Amino acid sequence: MKKVLKPLLKPLLKPIVNFIHQVLHFFGLSALANMGELARWVKLEYSSPAPRMVKESVLRRWGGRSIWIESGTHLGFTSMFLSEFAESVHTIEPQEELFKKSIQNFEKFRNINSYLGTSEKVLPRILQGISEASAGKLDVSFWLDGHFSQNDTYQGSTDTSIIHELKEIEKYIGRFHLISLLVDDIRLFRSDVPMPEVYPNLNILVDWATKHGLYWTIELDIFIATNRKLVP
Ligand SMILES: C[S@@+](CC[C@H](N)C(=O)[O-])C[C@H]1O[C@@H](n2cnc3c(N)ncnc32)[C@H](O)[C@@H]1O
Repeated sequence: MKKVLKPLLKPLLKPIVNFIHQVLHFFGLSALANMGELARWVKLEYSSPAPRMVKESVLRRWGGRSIWIESGTHLGFTSMFLSEFAESVHTIEPQEELFKKSIQNFEKFRNINSYLGTSEKVLPRILQGISEASAGKLDVSFWLDGHFSQNDTYQGSTDTSIIHELKEIEKYIGRFHLISLLVDDIRLFRSDVPMPEVYPNLNILVDWATKHGLYWTIELDIFIATNRKLVP
């Protein structure tokens, strides 16, 4: 019975957890949701992916306080978290229903700018906009998390837009005096799991960081490349 039910229930788990999270968040009970997630993570022997609050600590420690650009808004939980300490957050979501839901969640958040579309289409516009808006050098942090993640998420011709994103960011790299680039779900970027054709090899990220003189590391399934001198 368990064997039959498990594969049937698995795809429903994430939407259910997200829904519970939203309800608890709405009633100001986020701490309760976090505790539940932490307990589940401990039970899974700290395997990836880590709970949201743990991942958020990586973003806060390695990222800046000025401009954040996120690809893949989903329901906007991370955008809202970033908006607490960033001057502005730009977030991109191609799936229309998710985009609409995130807009509702952002109602009270004045420093979040949402864009409907793929990062291939929208990121060039954002990068051009922020660079035109400032004559000086910029402090920009990226949370690159725009990829197909089952259920109602967007699936384009490739599951991940990371290669496009890196190419686009590269065009502006001379404009950034500080940069942090964080890529989620790095466990998917290995060549020995059955998805090498959709996710590029991890070496692509390492080479990109090295080419631009950035220090790189991996923490909690997140690839981090930065020129910040802080050692968290
Ligand atoms: C894992 S979720 C993002 C979670 C969110 N960043 C967070 O931290 O809460 C991935 C999202 O990327 C979106 N997505 C898929 N392809 C994309 C693309 N080409 N450009 C931007 N976003 C994309 C999906 O629709 C989905 O909502």
